[in-house]
Amino acid sequence: MSAHAVLAAQTVDDCIIDQKWDRYSKEDHAIWRTLFERQQKTLKGHVAQEYLDGLAALGIGPEGVPDFDKMNARLRRITGWEVVAVPGLIPSRPFFQMLANRQFPAGTFIRSREQLDYLEEPDIFHDVFGHVPLLTNHAYANYMNEYGRIGLEAMEKKAVKFLARLNWYTIEFGLIRKPEGVRIYGAGIVSSYGEAKYVAEDPSAHHLGFDLKRALSTGYYIDDFQASYFVIDRFEDLFDLLKGEDIFALFDEVRAEPTLTPFEILAEDKVIRKGSGQYWREFPKTKIKLK
Ligand SMILES: [Fe+2]
Repeated sequence: MSAHAVLAAQTVDDCIIDQKWDRYSKEDHAIWRTLFERQQKTLKGHVAQEYLDGLAALGIGPEGVPDFDKMNARLRRITGWEVVAVPGLIPSRPFFQMLANRQFPAGTFIRSREQLDYLEEPDIFHDVFGHVPLLTNHAYANYMNEYGRIGLEAMEKKAVKFLARLNWYTIEFGLIRKPEGVRIYGAGIVSSYGEAKYVAEDPSAHHLGFDLKRALSTGYYIDDFQASYFVIDRFEDLFDLLKGEDIFALFDEVRAEPTLTPFEILAEDKVIRKGSGQYWREFPKTKIKLK
């Protein structure tokens, strides 16, 4: 599908393509192995057990780019979700519709060796290694499903920006508190060598107990590590949050107030770790717009 056709696509069916697993080259599979093995080492002792359980349950391993058909046979049995292949970033409406249908859209291309550390558009390693394992967890899977349903309504009410922040601070860059310490579950960290190391080793960032209104009010920078991470206690809390609040009333409240930067700590914050801020003193963000 051409880029133009993707932009014009508005329905789920317009966006779904065939993964064409047989077309991956030896080098594609070798890149997957390099990324997989490197991340296994980086995440060891720092990632949520539910994530590792998901990898094992779906048979996602180092041997090569996963075949969606094989992975889906397992995933459907566990939570009723499936992964569908899409040609890159897709418009909001079919994206939310897919989540509401328990379909997770994943890109099919894999980065090149020159782009091992960072690429702008999510590839199959980010989408599948990062996002898919937790779709085996019932609470997380239900949250993603509800997120899609609310997303469709948010489009009508011009509130997608707030859902994007919620996505950022949970699905992409969320942390979870466990008896053994704070652990990673966000796909943006799980699939990134640099950010996983930063979370594991650098004391710069704040760890704040997750609060829905606080997360919705906090802007983010898309091109660097986070200055604040929000920490949940249980995956069940995510779903309960969306169910328990009048989320659209909350969006209106947040809309009327100034956007917070990720650097600040408020008196009412549940501070789990006050970051040193060292990283941010070295790389100040003054000119880039907050999302
Ligand atoms: Fe993502």
